Amino acid sequence: MGFDRGDGGAEGSGGCREHSVRGARVLVFEDSRDACREAAARLVEIAREAIRERDKAVLGLATGKTPLGVYAALAQTHKEGLFSFRNVTTYNLDEYYPMSPRDPNSYRTFMHRHLFSQVDLAPNRAHVPDGTVPAAFADETGAAYDRWIEADGGLDAQLLGIGRNGHIGFNEPSETALEEALRSPTRLVELDVMTRHDAAADFGGLEQVPTRAVTMGMKSILGARSILVLAFGSNKAGAVANALQGHPTALVPASLLQTVSERVTWMLDPDSARGLDF
Ligand code: PGA
Repeated sequence: MGFDRGDGGAEGSGGCREHSVRGARVLVFEDSRDACREAAARLVEIAREAIRERDKAVLGLATGKTPLGVYAALAQTHKEGLFSFRNVTTYNLDEYYPMSPRDPNSYRTFMHRHLFSQVDLAPNRAHVPDGTVPAAFADETGAAYDRWIEADGGLDAQLLGIGRNGHIGFNEPSETALEEALRSPTRLVELDVMTRHDAAADFGGLEQVPTRAVTMGMKSILGARSILVLAFGSNKAGAVANALQGHPTALVPASLLQTVSERVTWMLDPDSARGLDF
């Protein structure tokens, strides 16, 4: 990998241009499929190193359209006999609430289809927040989720997408003070109207989209030793620019990644990067 020369970026590996924006690495790929393959390769590399060092790897995973190519590449790597998930533990970012794990729209179903059923990950090591707990105990269960992550030694890597409103996981834009937002635990949240609109097609209409979700909080996300953020398409350009070049604020949750920028790599395509001022 090279260095940002301030003239359009340096040549990176995997057919990308590499830039540095406020301390974060920003890789711009001509083709989003290459970005997904590169993200999968990095996750495998991080997992291998963690397994070498402490006999296990802990990966934070995301749902949505953006990471589909990452899961396809991970499944392929496993199928080719190049990587086993036997010593891997995963923690997904979020789940709708209330939501049965068997519902076709649940994130548990999504993960089962795209990754869990494709690799040799043990069922008691593939965690997705629980959308079935009583509401009065959702925050308590969220706190337990954070404790599990901590007991596992923290996340070696966290894979992230970004919403058009700048959300990560379902940490939605809010007026919360910066310090409090940075410490937010895994918890029950209300979904932003833009988030619900973006999910309407999957649920067969806005009315069917749950109004709440359980999301991993910023504390566990920002604690990851490596953070990979993927964003593709022009509808993400505004959120990407605000996250990377705006002030860190809970109004743009992804901008909070600036507080740990030395651990963050953004993997973009030219459309999602077009609002950035390199
Ligand atoms: P998407 O969602 O990958 O479906 O665009 C990303 C997100 O909302 O975090």
